Amino acid sequence: MVEQKRRILVANWKMNYGPLNSGRIAAEFKAALNHLKRTDVWVAPGAESLSVVSNALKGSDILVGSQNIGWVEKGAFTGELSVSSARECGATFAIVGHSERRHLCGESNELVGLKAAFSLSQRLVTVFCVGETLAERSANSTSLVLKRQLSVLTSEHRHLWSEYLIVAYEPVWAIGTGKVASPADITGAVRVIQEVLSNGPAVKLIYGGSVTGANLSEILCVDGVCGALVGGASLSLQTFEPLVRCAESLT
Ligand code: PGA
Repeated sequence: MVEQKRRILVANWKMNYGPLNSGRIAAEFKAALNHLKRTDVWVAPGAESLSVVSNALKGSDILVGSQNIGWVEKGAFTGELSVSSARECGATFAIVGHSERRHLCGESNELVGLKAAFSLSQRLVTVFCVGETLAERSANSTSLVLKRQLSVLTSEHRHLWSEYLIVAYEPVWAIGTGKVASPADITGAVRVIQEVLSNGPAVKLIYGGSVTGANLSEILCVDGVCGALVGGASLSLQTFEPLVRCAESLT
């Protein structure tokens, strides 16, 4: 029997909902999006809503994860979320190095590397985000930027990559702008990422940046892309369900 190809759709709710709304929308997701044939739905609510969302999703196969993660186990790190606290709240994955963390919160490449290393070492599935800004793209530096961002994934954790690492290509200029990268742009980035990581086991790749029900199918048809990281369109069942139906309809 030929194994069905599964896609991953990660809903990143960013700083939009507290526990009340997160729990309510998670319950709607559970009712409508459970037991899918070809799609894995993952939800990343705010840290304060992880417990509520994981409770709301109990009994479903939708996974819960955090939008950020600390780079050491515990201690005096005001405002950070530790792997064990996230786990205690039901998280099974963490987004690391999202462009908003890098560019709006000042997380350096080195810090993102430490976060990814710690998350991987703790066997937490790590959605590692990379992507160039518009200025970097205009300067033809996309490939250089991706290589620099990926360089922090050290060989120490290579044996964990196939099971615990997902790389999300998220061009900064496409996030929240309505300007989705073209299949050619995504193909180019996928090639660079695969080349840089070619010394390890195959790593799953997803795309993020203005993904909607209208453009998802062409994104998922790009060779090497097995899912999407979705911000705006993931904020309600009404806008997210078309993405899930699209992923379900593809072979
Ligand atoms: P967007 O966000 O879908 O609103 O562009 C994607 C992301 O930031 O992960």
